[in-house]
Amino acid sequence: RRILLINGPNLNLLGKREPHIYGSTTLPDVEEQARAQTRGLGFELETFQSNHEGAIVDRIQEAAGWGPNVASGDSRHGEKVSAIIINAGALTHTSVAVRDALAGVDIPFVEVHVSNVYARESFRAHSYLSDKAVAVICGMGVFGYTAAIEFAARHMKLKE
Ligand code: DQA
Repeated sequence: RRILLINGPNLNLLGKREPHIYGSTTLPDVEEQARAQTRGLGFELETFQSNHEGAIVDRIQEAAGWGPNVASGDSRHGEKVSAIIINAGALTHTSVAVRDALAGVDIPFVEVHVSNVYARESFRAHSYLSDKAVAVICGMGVFGYTAAIEFAARHMKLKE
């Protein structure tokens, strides 16, 4: 049983970038805390951060056991993820490709934003992911990741 935590563009700078908005906790701190928490709930945690849209699409496909050569007959190689927690950063507001990948793998996911996206620029109020998400969390700071993992492990109906 596995949970995959994905962080998109600029979230490698968490704790350093705009601390008045995103706080001072770094991504390694978030991931370390999340790993301990996830283990305590009986799951393994995989973490992935990328600034590149295509790399995130690849990682989501791999979570369903689909490698990049799936079209040429390369079958599922075995990785099975029960749930995805994703903070897609700015790709939330722009990426049909990340949306399609999440819908395509059919793995339930929780969308997380550290900041309250509704209290900021109006372009942040639209998400390409939210209507496909099981749940959406924003404005809780990095505690949003903790809440998402707790919810995924205890309250979501997971296939694997
Ligand atoms: C964010 C909100 C996005 O609008 C922004 O582009 C980010 C971070 C958040 O966690 O609050 O990069 O997803």
